[in-house]
Amino acid sequence: MLFPTTLTAAIALASTALAAPTLAPRDDTLTPWNLTRAIISTPSGRPGERLWATITVNVTDSNTLNLGTGTDGVAVTAGPSEGLNCKATFLPTEGPWNRSWPCDPNGKQEGYWTMNLKEAPAEGTFRAGYELVLKHVADVPYNGARFHKEYEGSLLLRVGEYLTGTCGGSGACSWGLKAAMEVRQSEIPSDA
Ligand SMILES: *[C@@H]1O[C@H](CO)[C@@H](O)[C@H](O)[C@H]1NC(C)=O
Ligand SMILES: *[C@@H]1O[C@H](CO)[C@@H](O)[C@H](O)[C@H]1NC(C)=O
Ligand SMILES: *[C@@H]1O[C@H](CO)[C@@H](O)[C@H](O)[C@H]1NC(C)=O
Repeated sequence: MLFPTTLTAAIALASTALAAPTLAPRDDTLTPWNLTRAIISTPSGRPGERLWATITVNVTDSNTLNLGTGTDGVAVTAGPSEGLNCKATFLPTEGPWNRSWPCDPNGKQEGYWTMNLKEAPAEGTFRAGYELVLKHVADVPYNGARFHKEYEGSLLLRVGEYLTGTCGGSGACSWGLKAAMEVRQSEIPSDA
């Protein structure tokens, strides 16, 4: 089964608390992120088989981000960038909720990506699911200063909506994206 049985109750409690993060107005000059892969795998629950579920995603940011200007007048930029193999590993009874799960370093030394998952309530014919919240932190040291901007984007993942998959005879299930999905990001204003 995809969702812990406690989820319905948790959603009832959480539905009013799923406050939108404080984000800057949408920046339409940025190209949206591309969620290229998302794989949700849940265990069979059979004795002797693996107990944990995993959610693994890949996302790309094709933008060259303008982080500011160095004291020498040089424009400091970051990107394009990829969040690779962002992975949550969790017990189905506990869920992956409300934690930062890191993505693999992409070797560029220009910051990092994280993934967070929030409970997404059922809606219409769609089952409850995961609100995937991706964060891209661009962080570049230059000329003795540190240039830093953070971006966040989210997407609801519900079986039947963007996800398709199968459950094996054992009861273990695997879902993936029907197609790559656009994720609209916003800059998170830094505290002054
Ligand atoms: C996750 O955070 C939301 C919002 O703060 C809260 O309502 C919800 O209960 C939390 N879920 C869990 C499982 O901790
Ligand atoms: C998103 O990624 C997919 C898979 O790599 C690719 O086919 C698609 O063209 C990309 N979409 C955009 C808007 O870049
Ligand atoms: C993410 O991309 C990396 C590098 O292209 C690839 O090795 C990995 O299999 C991908 N992960 C998923 C979940 O598709």
